[in-house]
Amino acid sequence: MKQYRVGIIGATGMVGQRFATLLEKHPWFTVTALAASSRSAGKTYEEALAGRWKMSTPIPEKMKDMTVLDAEKDREKIAGSVDFVFCAVNLEKQKTKALEEAYARCECPVISNNSANRGVPDVPMIIPEINPEHAAVIETQRKRLGTKRGFIAVKSNCSIQSYVPAVTPLLDLNVTKVLACTYQALSGAGKTFKVWPEMVDNVIPYIGGEEGKSENEPMKVWGHVENGVIVNATKPDITTQCLRVPVSDGHMAAVFVSFEKKIPLEEIIARWENFSGEPQRLRLPSAPRQFLHYFREEDRPQTRLDRNLENGMAVSIGRLRPDSQYDVKFVSLSHNTLRGAAGGGVLMAELLCAKGYLD
Ligand SMILES: NC(=O)c1ccc[n+]([C@@H]2O[C@H](COP(=O)([O-])OP(=O)(O)OC[C@H]3O[C@@H](n4cnc5c(N)ncnc54)[C@H](OP(=O)(O)O)[C@@H]3O)[C@@H](O)[C@H]2O)c1
Repeated sequence: MKQYRVGIIGATGMVGQRFATLLEKHPWFTVTALAASSRSAGKTYEEALAGRWKMSTPIPEKMKDMTVLDAEKDREKIAGSVDFVFCAVNLEKQKTKALEEAYARCECPVISNNSANRGVPDVPMIIPEINPEHAAVIETQRKRLGTKRGFIAVKSNCSIQSYVPAVTPLLDLNVTKVLACTYQALSGAGKTFKVWPEMVDNVIPYIGGEEGKSENEPMKVWGHVENGVIVNATKPDITTQCLRVPVSDGHMAAVFVSFEKKIPLEEIIARWENFSGEPQRLRLPSAPRQFLHYFREEDRPQTRLDRNLENGMAVSIGRLRPDSQYDVKFVSLSHNTLRGAAGGGVLMAELLCAKGYLD
């Protein structure tokens, strides 16, 4: 397989650090540029991270002495020295949009974890097992941006990765409505218990903007390509409530689903167990062997026990049972910084490489 040189924009953040650890030994991708804000620029990666490395494994040896570049001022230098970049920055929406478009216009594809471009109809928002065909809109986007190679592809919000994968194999059973309550980890806010002690022994019933993203983004993921852009799905109806809970990593969702007709529980479980997609067919390096795992034990999945299933790239489901107001209810769990952020970004990049979009 061809080797690709990659950059990480936002390399010092929670998601950027995850990218660094995931890419340390990647078979196709070699990190050749690390970038962040002007606060970190000019320091070595190790110096820039002093006192704020949040991963359980050490800073990758090969990256420690790399000089962190300024994502904005050094843009042309970075774009000219890599095949594409991963981007996860904490910046206001308009600035993030401008930053990502500027990289794309420099012919440097951007695999983004940020929300700024998620609503744009010619920017694909890909969960590789679910909607790989949405990559087709990249051609329309390239025309709009006036580029040959450059484009932006985005990952969805981490909250939806806990329940959209479980609902997707059921969609053709005519799902009419979905209610999802999410119980989201601190790392989803880029934080740990050390820097956010108020979260110890506490639940905060508000995550700014999260419920809107959780209700709207599934419609794009479940949409279809028409005339070169994505047309959002209009069904099922979704309502959500998103809570921050005292957990380091792993977003859990309590999900309720109704169908036009009643469906036997065993058929739902069979659909989960048999569901696979392009990443499994193409044997992409970061693909889980089995995307959806159903646990028959009544007290699973549990965040601490199950979030790292298949290197944090699988989704765990359990407690499927009838409900008195919806037809069925269940819980599902995904690792928010692995499947929900950096790992999902790496898998998307692998898919786009395999399909030739990053050549
Ligand atoms: N955490 C999750 O689970 C998760 C999941 C999905 C998506 N996301 C999204 O991923 C993005 C990053 O999240 P995070 O949790 O990693 O945030 P974070 O820990 O706060 O890190 C933010 C990063 O952005 C950089 N940055 C800030 N201003 C910049 C600028 N002007 N130019 C270039 N870089 C700049 C920071 O660099 P300095 O260190 O130099 O300040 C740092 O590297 C956000 O858009 C977030 O919504 C996060």
